Amino acid sequence: MCSDSRMAQTIAVLDFGSQYTQVIARRIRECQVYSKIYHYSTPAATLREEGVVGIILSGGPSSVFAKKAPIPDRGIFELGVPVLGVCYGIQLMGHLLGGRVSKSTHREYGHGNLRVKSPGRLFAGLPRKLRVWNSHGDRLIQLPPGFRAIGVTENSEYAAIEDRRRNLFGIQFHPEVFHTERGIGVFQNFLFGICGAKRDWTVRSFIDHAIADIRAKVGQGRVILGLSGGVDSSVAAALIHRAIGRQLTCVFVDNGLLRQNERDYVVNLYKKHFHIDLRVVDASALFLRRLKGVSEPEAKRKIIGRTFIKVFEQSLKSIGHAEFLAQGTLYPDVIESVAIGNNPAALIKTHHNVGGLPGRMKLKLLEPLRELFKDEVRGVGAKLGLPREVVWRQPFPGPGLGVRVMGALAQDKLDILRAADAILQEEMMASGLYWKVWQSFCVFLPVKSVGVVGDERNYAWVIAVRVVESIDAMTADWSRLPYDLLQKISSRITNEVRGVSRVVLDISSKPPATIEWE
Ligand code: XMP
Repeated sequence: MCSDSRMAQTIAVLDFGSQYTQVIARRIRECQVYSKIYHYSTPAATLREEGVVGIILSGGPSSVFAKKAPIPDRGIFELGVPVLGVCYGIQLMGHLLGGRVSKSTHREYGHGNLRVKSPGRLFAGLPRKLRVWNSHGDRLIQLPPGFRAIGVTENSEYAAIEDRRRNLFGIQFHPEVFHTERGIGVFQNFLFGICGAKRDWTVRSFIDHAIADIRAKVGQGRVILGLSGGVDSSVAAALIHRAIGRQLTCVFVDNGLLRQNERDYVVNLYKKHFHIDLRVVDASALFLRRLKGVSEPEAKRKIIGRTFIKVFEQSLKSIGHAEFLAQGTLYPDVIESVAIGNNPAALIKTHHNVGGLPGRMKLKLLEPLRELFKDEVRGVGAKLGLPREVVWRQPFPGPGLGVRVMGALAQDKLDILRAADAILQEEMMASGLYWKVWQSFCVFLPVKSVGVVGDERNYAWVIAVRVVESIDAMTADWSRLPYDLLQKISSRITNEVRGVSRVVLDISSKPPATIEWE
């Protein structure tokens, strides 16, 4: 992966609002070719200036007949660059290039069987019969001039089409989704056989170019980075440190809401192992003081967020002058997805956990990961020597245990939760299941229940165990952990953690529940 599109050949993915647009971009990068998502209205001249070597038109929920149908600059078909239209993309080709599209009142959704009539370059080397995934309303019923059909399905004579002279291709199905057989093969044929793209987007080349970019941008300046210990800030720290060494200072804020040994782990790894200039700010007393008596989840979140900014800002003053603030912003945080229909990707996230800080402190932003997807970030982290526990760490919410102790926080409740959670993590690691689930954690329930210890009645707190599987945290299901493992977790928590009389298992999926309890 080169660190920017100037260095690598680019495939442009024009976004027409499909929830799969990012998946297309990721599949291309899995083929070691750089891809970039563009708004569907991007002028052809811009794409030419940026030197794109191929264009993919994404799917989208709209109909080409809709009043506000997203229509691209027609000039993209005249650039002399190969174009592949996917789903809505093939309908656009039909509509704009002189074919006919029929309006449909219902969507065709699910598996179909593609029969390749003539492999051409798009299906070269692939089986003549492929199970494919469809999700479309309208469909092409008459070819535009210059095109021929190269694949049919039970529902469409024109499920795959090509204009060999102009290098234009269209497919009705979605090659990017897992359910389409050999979908990656279709992309590879397009990228290498048709666009002549090179495999120049590799972890090694990304790191080399990112290091050169960081050095050129920063010069002799000083960079500050708020290290949380999560994947993104950890990889950003390791990468920037590789580039500029002691010009980087990391700040780790102990908010008193961390898990067991978390602070020691971070200090050991970054200070002792990587020799990074790491400043630990112990603000736990301040956080707990401000949170005293607050039980409403959103109020807790706000206090934690605001206090973090205050503490971080103060720590910067004590560090001295710096020109840059580094952040582990990722590509999905910066893509402004097209909002058509109910495209979940269109929810633009605000990643900047330090809010207006850069402006107030007159800091320039340094975001060396802003072109990467999460899986690419993990690859970079692994190559830079970060351990598996960091690279494949489960997500952990910014407000930490603050939203895992239900209701008002207190030191003794946090201590109980930390001890119980440490046991859960230990057992999840020992069973190897830690790496297979999305998240596993304990929640402190502020209710007391009766138990017996020896001959004595034990009236103590309840711990809930929450373990979920998920792809992207938008939906989640509770993990069916083996009973023996659950038994071990439960008996260890009730035996080893004083103040707990009972362990319960959360068997709610998302929706309707959320992953966290607050
Ligand atoms: P929910 O509970 O909404 O969580 O199903 C979805 C994912 O987001 C994480 N999460 C947060 N992350 N700050 C964060 O940085 C937060 O306030 C926050 N709340 C939830 C949660 O752990 C899960 O991975």
